[in-house]
Amino acid sequence: MSIPLLDTRISVLFDADRLANRVSELASEIVADMGREFLVVPILKGSFIFAADLLRALHMAGGEPDMDFLTLSSYGAGTQTSGKVRISRDIDAEIIGRQVLLVDDILESGRTLAVAKDLMMLRQARSVKTCVLLEKPGKLAVQMKVDFVGFECPDKFVIGYGMDVAHAYRQLPFVGVVES
Ligand code: IMP
Ligand code: MG
Repeated sequence: MSIPLLDTRISVLFDADRLANRVSELASEIVADMGREFLVVPILKGSFIFAADLLRALHMAGGEPDMDFLTLSSYGAGTQTSGKVRISRDIDAEIIGRQVLLVDDILESGRTLAVAKDLMMLRQARSVKTCVLLEKPGKLAVQMKVDFVGFECPDKFVIGYGMDVAHAYRQLPFVGVVES
């Protein structure tokens, strides 16, 4: 399906039903592995819709997670990463001794999650697990093995379901690719 949005064509890669089904499967996998209580840390901004859906799915799967937010940035306004990850807003929560689940939209070079994971380990989390909605294979620049992955993603710049290009299209209820 291709949806005209203003003068841009966007093709749908993962529609809302597929996303919802996979999010509930992920939640069950996470609760089975991590138990009921842990701290969910979404990496903003891109993961905010995924994380909100995941949190509700975790409840349905029997989890009782807390949540706090970490804002990291590496992209600026374009579609090329600068390669340097900056903390633009830190969490408030105490990390020491806790189980942490980092949640991000996409794993590409792995740098974003690696920075977040190092930060949580430095603060003496008991364990740090990672969850991404999408993984672009073969793009890792650092060592990073994600614990819970939603879907494998083609090597294209994707948008929607929280993800943006130059701050646009986060509101789309599906994951799509800009075609023109
Ligand atoms: P990494 O640090 O290279 O793994 O990049 C991961 C970050 O880059 C994610 O948190 C995303 O926000 C962003 N990103 C990577 N690929 C895309 C894409 O195709 N669309 C939107 N954001 C992306
Ligand atoms: Mg991001």
